[in-house]
Parts: sequence; C-alpha cells; structure tokens
Amino acid sequence: MCGIVAYIGSKNCIPLLISGLQRLEYRGYDSSGIACIHKSTISDYKAVGKVKELNSLIEKSSIDESQVGIAHTRWATHGLPSEANAHPHLSTNRKFAVVHNGIIENYKALKSNLEAKGCKFQSETDSEVIAHLIEQLYDGDLVAAVASAVKMLVGAYGLAVIASDEPDKIVAVRNGSPIVIGISENESIIASDLSAIVSHTKQVIFLNDNDIAIVTASNVEIRNQENVPISREIDTVDWDFSAAEKSGYEHFMLKEIFEQPEAVGNAIRGRLDHVNNSALLSGLNMDAQDLVTIKRIIIAACGTSLNAGLIGEYYLEDLAGLVTEVEQAAEFRYRNPLVDAETLCLIISQSGETADSLAALREAKLKGSQVAAICNVVGSTISRESGRGIYLHAGPEIGVASTKAFTCQVSVLLMMALKFARARRYTYTDAAELINEIEKIPEYIDAVLKQSKKIEKIAKRWAHATNWFFIGRGYQYPVALEAALKLKEISYHHAEGYHAAELKHGPIALLDENFPVVALAADIDGKDKTIGNIEECLARKAPVIICATQGDKSLASYTKDLIEIPASSKYIVPITATVAMQLLAYYVAKERGEDIDQPRNLAKSVTVE
Ligand code: G6P
Repeated sequence: MCGIVAYIGSKNCIPLLISGLQRLEYRGYDSSGIACIHKSTISDYKAVGKVKELNSLIEKSSIDESQVGIAHTRWATHGLPSEANAHPHLSTNRKFAVVHNGIIENYKALKSNLEAKGCKFQSETDSEVIAHLIEQLYDGDLVAAVASAVKMLVGAYGLAVIASDEPDKIVAVRNGSPIVIGISENESIIASDLSAIVSHTKQVIFLNDNDIAIVTASNVEIRNQENVPISREIDTVDWDFSAAEKSGYEHFMLKEIFEQPEAVGNAIRGRLDHVNNSALLSGLNMDAQDLVTIKRIIIAACGTSLNAGLIGEYYLEDLAGLVTEVEQAAEFRYRNPLVDAETLCLIISQSGETADSLAALREAKLKGSQVAAICNVVGSTISRESGRGIYLHAGPEIGVASTKAFTCQVSVLLMMALKFARARRYTYTDAAELINEIEKIPEYIDAVLKQSKKIEKIAKRWAHATNWFFIGRGYQYPVALEAALKLKEISYHHAEGYHAAELKHGPIALLDENFPVVALAADIDGKDKTIGNIEECLARKAPVIICATQGDKSLASYTKDLIEIPASSKYIVPITATVAMQLLAYYVAKERGEDIDQPRNLAKSVTVE
C-alpha cells in the first residue's frame, strides 16, 4: 500500500526513481511524485494517475540532474487522489521533503498546532504534518529533527526524508510500515519493498520498527529513537528479477495464473517425507510432541489469504482432527480472543506486511499463544516476527488480485494438515494416497489451464452481467467466496459467494434471467445437494454456469456453460476449482477492458488498518 523509493549515489536519480516507482506501482497507483535536491534546492514533480503520467510530466520539464531524491506512488487514505495530495510533501520553507507510507492517527491535533505556528499546508493528507514538524524541530541536524518528529507521531509509518541543506543523506524511518535499504557501490536505494531494489543490488538491510537509518551513497548507519547506534544484518536476497516481468503475457495476473503449476511445484518441493508418509516443513520447527500438544488452531488473515485459511480449517479438522477457527485478522486483534499456550495462532499473508494480520500476530504472542506464519515474501515483517513458519516459494506476485499465492497457501496448508494428521491419528497407509495427490497438484492445475479457451468463451458470453452469485458446499464453499472476491476485484461486477444451502434464505430473491449463478459442483461430497440448489436457481430463470468434474455426465443437462476440472481427491478440488474461477474472473474483466493488474481502489499490500 503506497510505494516508496529513494536514491542517493553517483548516478542521476530521476530515471532510477521513475523505474523504481513503476516496479512499486502495484502497491498503489492513484498519483505519484518525486522530490530531488539540485544546488541546495528541492524540486518536486507530481501527477495524478499512473507513474507514466509523472514520467511524461518530467520528460516535458527541463529538470536538472540530481544525485539524491525520494519518490512515492500513492494509494489514497486521506484526501482524494490529486496533485496536492500526492507525495512527496514539502515543509513551508521547502527545505524538507517527505514520503510516507502508513497512517498518522494524531495528524489533526498536530496540524492545528503547526498551523497556529504559521505552517502553510498544501494537502488534505495526514502525511504532510511530518514535513512541517521536521521544519519546526530542525536545528542544523536532520537526523535529530526526524528523531524528535517521529516521537510525536501516533500511527504507522515508513518514511524517507531529505533536506536541501544536507544533500549528502536521506533519513529513513520505520514503524509499522516496511522499509528496506539496498546497498551497492557508491549508491544506496531505500524502498518499501524489494521489487524496487533487486535490479540494483541483492545486498539489503531490513529495518526493524523504530529504526532510524542515516543513508549516504557509501554508508548506512542505523540508530534507535534514543539516538543509540544499532547494528542490523546485511541480508543477501535470492530474488529472480525476471520473475517480476510479464514475460510476454498480457497481464501479470494471467502470467501468475499460468505459473501456478510451477509455483505450487516449488511450494511442495522437498517438503514431502516419503519415508514416513508425512510432511517435513522444517520451518514450522515442531516435533511430534509439539504437534500433539496443540489443542486448537486459530487462523487469522485478510482477503484472499483469509479464504485460503477457510480451506485450511477444513483440512486441519478433517485430516488432523484439530479444532480450527478462522478469523478476519482485524476482528481477532480487537475481540479479546481466547488463546493459550496450547493454541497455535497461524497467520497467513502473501506479503507478510498486512497491518491487521501483523497486529493479530502480535496480539496472539502477547496472550501467550504459540504462533507461526505462512508467508510468501521472504524477510517480511510477519515472517520475521513469527519466528517460525512456512514460506510459499511462489515467487513475486505482482498482480493485485492474488492467484498463485492462494493455491500455494492452500497446498502448504494441506501439507501442514498432513503433518499434524500423521502425528495425531493418520496411519502410514492413510497418508500414502494423500501424498500422491499432493505431488500431482501441478499436473491437475495444468489440466485446468488447458481449459482456458473454453472458460474464456463462457466469460465472454456472460461478461455483461453485473450481478453474480457463486455457490458451493464443503470444500467448494470457500472456493465460492474466493471466486466472488476475484470477480469483484478485477471486473467491478457485484459478486457474492454463498454456501449453496444459504441461497434460499434470502439471496435467491435477487435472481432473474440476467443474474448468473456459478455452481461449484465437482464430484465430491455435497454434489447431489448442490444439484438441488442448481434446480432452484433454474426455476427462477437464473442462468447457471457449472464447474464440474471432467467426464461427469450428470450435470450437462443443466447448462451449456460447463467448466471442467480433473477428477481428483476432494482435498485437491479447492485448488483446481479456484484456478478455473481465476480464469473466469480474468476473462470477464478482460472482455470489459478493465485494468486487470491494477484494479481501481485496491492495493497489493494493505499496511493500514
Ligand atoms: C489486499 C490484497 C489482497 C490480499 C489481501 C491480504 O487486500 O489486494 O489480494 O489478499 O490484501 O494480503 P496478504 O498479503 O496479507 O495476503
């Protein structure tokens, strides 16, 4: 959510900042801006819309070269997308410029104080107070002024600050919103995530909360808020830069959908224990006694990760006999949850930075629960603070609508359930078949991808429909929720997921001939009852699209719009059915000409509550 990139070094920073912003654009894209220092003066450029608008503004202006600058791409929280609200924000005397990710909760009080002191505000944002505060506190030492300013802020922030009188440094601060610093020869790059850094260097420092970094072209010094120097390790990140390219696909989302056989293959590789018919998952760091001591699992997550968690609940209960609850992370953190040392609180997050999921993790730890995380982004805050967990190895996910992270999350949850199951009640023989099925997931996904042309045709036929229901039972119920989320995220159609049995308790009142119902009716438990619900929809003249098991003749008479997934065990169906639904959502959005990778109003990583 919002992207920060900043550069100090021997090169001209402007093109580097623009390309960094383009890499970060998936985090927010309603406006963007750059501020840089040239001859002891700060120049700033801002544009509403995508980074390409900022780029053409800069191309038209006679901008001077600069070796130090900060930049930002915004996802609006306070104030509409506008040039004035775009970052960087400058102080009244224009000697300080700030880019900010996060939310300053006490900005109103700070703003009225600062206005009383004569500060002239240009924007409606919460962030602008930071620039004015620094100006007020500045006494010839930028680091000291920033340190004093952040002590007055309540909320979450990742910051990069420049001062025209101190062009040899950028000051970066982290509190609740990630900041990573890339170190290269004669240059340093600060960013809110690795995607803006890895093309320059693989040597990085992840800041911890309350770290203040003084970044020059040749050095990074970190202090705490009491001005005491602290050391942070330099990590070498193993990130394939080409993974963040579209590689000939029209959209990142389509590329990521088609990458799923490989991504899930990577998530599974080396993690199945064929000797014991179990799963290894060494990052979980749990021996057999730990596995049997856990009495309850609470999964806390948001968005697509929450839907993956719902499937995880079925796996853990069904296979391992473990009481499992799934909670929206924001609800968990404020609800005074009942946890104890025999509870495992499992946080699922692709980015590992989602504010509510991180807060849920901290709350669970504080209440004495055991914790673990399933994350994709290596080195992310949730992965570091949980101390144990499972990485997805899905590679960078750039499309805002999550696809490959979801199928990897579900695959990892299935392996985790297998590990618990083997310790608790599953026999060696019970597990053999499941292991076989897990290994075949990439193949099963491939079979769904081969249906893409057929799914595209169905999507084209129904792309005009503005209301959609998705229904399912058992393992296909969470799929209905995820399918509806995917469709609404990228096509802006109204879509809701329901348990198939729930439709008649109200929602069915909405159905008519223009309101498609997508029934998830693969040939596993619950199919026959879902057929009854399909009949009910047809009786209300609603068109029905059915996702069925390949070769299942019993459903053909209900619809011309049949989407087929391969026959597999019930544990695999939520994965294959979801891939089919991702394609359906993608092609509906494409037919409507929507901006699939950067849907309006959304952001990839939500670092505010
Ligand atoms: C945002 C994204 C969703 C994502 C959710 C949770 O809303 O747009 O795609 O599912 O955050 O993100 P996380 O990184 O915690 O999985």
